Amino acid sequence: MKLFEPFDLKNKKLKNRIVMAPMTRSRAVDNIPNALMANYYRQRAGAGLIISEGTSPSVNGLGYPRIPGAYSPAQIEGWKAIADAIHEKGSVFFLQLMHCGRVTSSENLPEMGETIAPSAVKAAGEMMTDTKGLVAHETPKKMTHEDIEATQQEYVNCAQNLIRVGVDGVELHSANGYLMEQFLNPKSNLRTDDYGGNFKNRARFVIETVKKVVAAIGAENVGIRFSPYGEMNDMQSDYDDLVSLYVYLATELKALGIAYIHIVDHRGEMGAPQFKTDIKETIKGAFAGTVITGGEIDSKEKAQEVLAHGFDLAYIGRSFISNPDLVEKLKHGKALTKPKEALFYTSGAEGYTDY
Ligand SMILES: Cc1cc2nc3c(=O)[nH]c(=O)nc-3n(C[C@H](O)[C@H](O)[C@H](O)COP(=O)(O)O)c2cc1C
Repeated sequence: MKLFEPFDLKNKKLKNRIVMAPMTRSRAVDNIPNALMANYYRQRAGAGLIISEGTSPSVNGLGYPRIPGAYSPAQIEGWKAIADAIHEKGSVFFLQLMHCGRVTSSENLPEMGETIAPSAVKAAGEMMTDTKGLVAHETPKKMTHEDIEATQQEYVNCAQNLIRVGVDGVELHSANGYLMEQFLNPKSNLRTDDYGGNFKNRARFVIETVKKVVAAIGAENVGIRFSPYGEMNDMQSDYDDLVSLYVYLATELKALGIAYIHIVDHRGEMGAPQFKTDIKETIKGAFAGTVITGGEIDSKEKAQEVLAHGFDLAYIGRSFISNPDLVEKLKHGKALTKPKEALFYTSGAEGYTDY
């Protein structure tokens, strides 16, 4: 069965075609990855590829409480231990770099952190904080050219340090309404310089950043996540050049030869609207490389359907939270345990490593 067969992801051998999706779990007290997290990932290393929870490349990028970073020596040491734990179990580990941009609260940022975004456009909605509960998002500072360059350099520095300690690759989070998608979307990017306006300009921040990270760690160690038609975090998907934008991105990324494109599919329970076009197939066609996608997979049949549609790897999110031995359970058709949603973002082992 193809799902359980190995897959060559550029120079890395995945033991199967099941990917543990990136999931924020807010267990990184003081934003430092810890032993509890290493245990959590070790338990789930039946996956061919594990993509870490969203991890900030910058003090400015910490949107949610207790999310990890990858910009300090202590954080990099923490990720080293996690990479070692995952490798012991024969899985491959990409770390997701998530800069939250305007989707944050200053309550969640250290003193020197600053809420920045392509334009000074506030996101609707609220952010959870440990200090004040739910608070409204704030109007971000519009990034200057210096901010853009400094932020890109933060991605590069993190990527280099992570590879140095044995992490296999990084996934740039350009989905779900965070900083990179804030540049792509014309409702959050109102710039009139080279980084705003037509779709090529709006893609510039993402493509430039990918190029810089590729130059630093190699294209084979870089992936990216997109969520076309997604509406998380006040993204609005009703803009005219959406298909042109994603075809352009996929074509540029093909030329760069990155390891994969990962496409979020949050239709159904996750609340995204129906896709207006066959955007996943369109991206696959233009990229012509490895594409990961999924959504609501809770059986081997559903995972196989993703592969049968011509995609290469199937991501699984929530089922991995409550079934550390998910791959074995899928293989043998065993019933899955349901996740406890109230414990998704709490601190401590309960609802985390005790399934
Ligand atoms: C608790 C939780 C945290 C999540 N955090 C992230 C994240 O940090 N980065 C990301 O790209 N997606 C995140 N997602 C989205 C998942 O990666 C995935 O796309 C989503 O859960 C749908 O897949 P599923 O139906 O298999 O659960 C998160 C989802 C959940 C449930």
